[in-house]
Amino acid sequence: MTHYNYRATRLFALAALSVCLMLLAAACSGEDASSDDTGAYEATQSSDTTVASVTEGELSQAGLAGERLFIANCSSCHGLQASGTAQGPPLVHEIYESGHHSNASFVIAVARGVRQHHWQFGNMPAVPDLSIDEIHQVICYVRELQLANDIIDQIPTSTPC
Ligand code: HEC
Repeated sequence: MTHYNYRATRLFALAALSVCLMLLAAACSGEDASSDDTGAYEATQSSDTTVASVTEGELSQAGLAGERLFIANCSSCHGLQASGTAQGPPLVHEIYESGHHSNASFVIAVARGVRQHHWQFGNMPAVPDLSIDEIHQVICYVRELQLANDIIDQIPTSTPC
């Protein structure tokens, strides 16, 4: 088995586990496209949705590694410093605070992709090349940005940074 297949299998197992956890915890009620609990956030124009200025606070080592990974794999849609683009929403946004979008929901988003449900940008494709450690580094980066911008009060304890 190649390294890639091992990694993909591991990610898939993790995603499946996370789905179970998520169903239990209802970590992301928005996963079900039919439950529209977030109508207030829906934007008609994607240009309405970018965040004008994101403060970048201090980043941990994991957060710095995550920043590089984020720029390479996520910023084409989610924007530099996760401030959003015409292709995808900002993640420095109250909708993605840890109570509503847990770290598990980030892992699932990257491993499986996301069906359009909160916005009108279309679906997010899976980003299959990241290892679980790399996904955690990206989560550190996003959580540290959220903390610096008062979206969250503290980094969730399950975040390795
Ligand atoms: C090709 C564009 C694209 C890329 C690349 C992309 N995303 Fe997304 N992502 C989206 C869109 C669009 C949504 C919003 C879907 C919706 O809710 O309507 C989204 C939603 C999300 C969500 C919310 C998931 C949920 O449960 O609602 C997370 C977390 C996320 N992205 C993280 C990432 C990370 C981390 C990366 C990089 C590893 C990444 N995305 C790369 C387009 C993208």
